[in-house]
Amino acid sequence: MGLLNALSFGVGTLAGTQVGLRAVWRRTPRPHPRLLASILENPLRLKYRDPAQTLGPFGLAEGMNVLDLGCGTGLFTEQMARQVGLSGIVHAVDIQSALLEKARQRVTEAGLAGRVHFHHSGAYRLPLADASVDIAILIATFSEVPNSLLLLEELRRVVKPGGRVGISEELPHPGYLPAAAVRGQLREAGFRYGGQQGNPFCYSLLYFRE
Ligand SMILES: C[S@@+](CC[C@H](N)C(=O)[O-])C[C@H]1O[C@@H](n2cnc3c(N)ncnc32)[C@H](O)[C@@H]1O
Repeated sequence: MGLLNALSFGVGTLAGTQVGLRAVWRRTPRPHPRLLASILENPLRLKYRDPAQTLGPFGLAEGMNVLDLGCGTGLFTEQMARQVGLSGIVHAVDIQSALLEKARQRVTEAGLAGRVHFHHSGAYRLPLADASVDIAILIATFSEVPNSLLLLEELRRVVKPGGRVGISEELPHPGYLPAAAVRGQLREAGFRYGGQQGNPFCYSLLYFRE
């Protein structure tokens, strides 16, 4: 097989797999498989998912109360804990206890455990008080939650009036939703648009809860 044929075969196979996976995922969104947890920290992902750069558009500050919904292995939880400082709190929430444990281990090893509360919970009924969060952040998580209406209602409950919601999505996540689709859902749920950054493959949206 010539080089060109081999290359076309490889690209075709990758594209076919991605299309197939996306079709299955859109029918039934599901949590990131825990056996594939290491993908979340793969060096290739870190090339476009530097934690400090990813969080930049959301404007975290010292003393904030932050929700990291779908914290996974804690890649971003750790950075959030640094940014909120000694007087802030990060609520790291995940529906999969195995991933939450990895996040706890990571944050503890970084010496930041005192700033993070871990919650094993789904997204529709968060163990947080009404209007208690300055900013809720969902990185590669929005498209994994099957019912976005229930999710957005719950975010409206826990985020303070005037507080923020940050949503970031990326390819090649098989659940990836284009920014326009996510913007439509947030608009319908009554959140005020605050801007978009990134590119079509990896973007971040900022919203305000009125
Ligand atoms: C693709 S991973 C992203 C993890 C992390 N935010 C990151 O970017 O490295 C999505 C995470 O959302 C969690 N998740 C999916 N559905 C959820 C739900 N309904 N409630 C809470 N967490 C959920 C998954 O268990 C998984 O850890």
